[in-house]
Amino acid sequence: MIELKTPGEIDAIDAAGSVVARILAAVRERAAPGVRPSELDALASDMIAEAGAVSSFRGYHPRWAPGPYPGVLCVSVNDAVVHGIPSRTKLREGDLLSVDFAVHLDGWCADAAFSVVVGNGDPASAVGSASSASSDEKLIATTEAALEAGIAAAQPGAQMGDVGHAIGQVARGAGYGMLADHGGHGVGRSMHEEPHVPNEAKPRRGLRLRPGLVIAIEPMLHAGGKDSYRHDRDGWTIRTADGSRAAHAEHTIAITENGPRILTLP
Ligand code: MF3
Ligand code: CO
Repeated sequence: MIELKTPGEIDAIDAAGSVVARILAAVRERAAPGVRPSELDALASDMIAEAGAVSSFRGYHPRWAPGPYPGVLCVSVNDAVVHGIPSRTKLREGDLLSVDFAVHLDGWCADAAFSVVVGNGDPASAVGSASSASSDEKLIATTEAALEAGIAAAQPGAQMGDVGHAIGQVARGAGYGMLADHGGHGVGRSMHEEPHVPNEAKPRRGLRLRPGLVIAIEPMLHAGGKDSYRHDRDGWTIRTADGSRAAHAEHTIAITENGPRILTLP
């Protein structure tokens, strides 16, 4: 069932979203060569407690997963697309880092993600060639553009297919692959609610978007142009099948009478 939220409930999700945005900004600030993803997870965990919030990830156990999720962040590096478990392997200059994060505050959830190239962005010092550093930046910029296009399409009276179409046009237009069968989702008291939010769809199809609908929009783009992926031995981490790098960007938004409202901003 799809539940529309009242303006007061949307404000409550916005409050959770502010916490998410603030903590993600701190994680982004801390991410640097030599830092362990497990340290980023500890930073986020401390900040969640200070904010009086609760992790939406830790202990989460979907049917397909081997066990409860062990962290508060998903930290996906290079060919890891999403659901990377924060490891003790130090980040290196030029790594493509994706961080996904959600909290519950006063019973309401918000979910967001960003990608960034680790280090000072000096292509000469990056692992690999200068061109790989700038192509990573292009992959990330295109992922962010796909997210923005998806958000812009999320107008009251539009349809869910318009959102997927807008995302897919940007991603495919740049020649990138996307994670088959993955996309965004409704957000509310639970992190994952109906409806599914496709990253590729036909326009003028699907659910009519109405004020009060709250969804996470989350394009995941692969540099390699293929859609295939594999699960890591850990049962969680999703990696590109061809080893190419991937980027992820996500906001939780509300459809309002005045258009889309981004709830995961500081
Ligand atoms: N935010 C992620 C998503 O919407 C959920 C991560 S599941 C977790 O796909 F268990 F890793 F937390
Ligand atoms: Co999500």
